[in-house]
Amino acid sequence: MRTRVAIIGAGPAGLMLAHLLHAQGIDVVVLERQTPDHVQGRIRAGVLERVTVDIMTRLGLDDRMRAEGLVEEGFCLADGERLIRIDIAELTGQTVMVYGQTEIQRDLVEAAQVRGLDVRWQIDDIALHALDSDTPWLTCREGEIDWHITADFIIGCDGFHGVSRRAVPASAAQIHERVYPFAWLGILADVPPCHHELIYANHSRGFALASLRSPTRSRYYIDVPTDTQLADWPEQRLWDELAMRLGPTVAARITQGPALEISLAPLRSFVFEPMRHGRLLLCGDAAHIVPPTGAKGLNLAASDVHYAAQALTSWYAHNDNDGIAHYAGKALARVWQAQRFSWSLTRLVHRFPEDGRFERAMQLAEFNHIAGSRAAQMAIAENYVGLPV
Ligand code: APR
Ligand code: PHB
Repeated sequence: MRTRVAIIGAGPAGLMLAHLLHAQGIDVVVLERQTPDHVQGRIRAGVLERVTVDIMTRLGLDDRMRAEGLVEEGFCLADGERLIRIDIAELTGQTVMVYGQTEIQRDLVEAAQVRGLDVRWQIDDIALHALDSDTPWLTCREGEIDWHITADFIIGCDGFHGVSRRAVPASAAQIHERVYPFAWLGILADVPPCHHELIYANHSRGFALASLRSPTRSRYYIDVPTDTQLADWPEQRLWDELAMRLGPTVAARITQGPALEISLAPLRSFVFEPMRHGRLLLCGDAAHIVPPTGAKGLNLAASDVHYAAQALTSWYAHNDNDGIAHYAGKALARVWQAQRFSWSLTRLVHRFPEDGRFERAMQLAEFNHIAGSRAAQMAIAENYVGLPV
């Protein structure tokens, strides 16, 4: 089989890229290990930066997002009882969209079927070959069929546990990683949100996040030790802990209700360089992971996809190799800025087990600085809405 671009992974990165290339008339095949339902069922966050909204708009896939999504003009940092509002609209002239990333995935999958994209599910044993040649190829198995697929480019959109990153020779690879000493325990429930904007709370008992999906659906998180089991946290215990960590004023507005889903997710910062090796480009979680604190995961995948689509379109339209040659540098520049912001916000709103009185005093000093400095709030706001692509 011969295609122009072979994409591994049908998550948000793989499908956004496939749609963008398909819209340019570029022949694409997407190879996904799981079933559509499995990929759809992945627990995902809910804050969209402008780059993600713009891609969905360019693809004509923004109707449901604009109908059901919530435009957020600010968010709050809570330091005990103090709420510090970051007015992102006033400070940056931009907003963020709160719209479940699972909904983005659904919109992308449904449109792929309607638009006739070649997405193949339950594909096993993908192996990448000849990445340094002009005709890289991959082998895989679709049921009883063994495929040999030759392409101009292979794009690894196969997430943190995928195979594409591992096809880069160790001698050419550099990994940067920080595993955090806590995980996030999250609950999704059909109850009205306690606040119309997100609240990131640093409490003596630990971190809490009050988020939302709609006027009738709420999303909450607390940080827990990494060895926590879901069985340790019956729903009522989680609701009670959220009330304590968000403080009495906010807690008075929390509506409890049965969980639609409860999830545990460890926190990690991870960057794999290079994001290109020969004719292999890496996008999204295949190349980087951020702690969810800054809500950057999907949005970084979107900026990678933006750069990759730009480079590939220019390569096919103008035989221009510049975009391809500079893809990794451009993508990584934005990745590192998002890593820095996600790491710094994680440091600000979590209590690290190894921290002592000095580190706590530094957190307090930073909250005081943010509360009193427009410049400090601007720095947070411009990173939260997403740096320009
Ligand atoms: N072969 C084929 N497909 C694979 C393989 C493989 N060997 N390994 C992984 N995959 C598939 C997974 O099943 C998954 O559907 O690749 C896809 C990767 O999707 P994600 O993990 O969602 O990663 P990405 O598309 O980069 O999304 C990035 O979206 O919702 C956010 O927070 C989420 O940070 C994440 C972001
Ligand atoms: C969410 O609503 O799931 C969410 C929001 C903001 C974050 C992380 C998760 O930083």
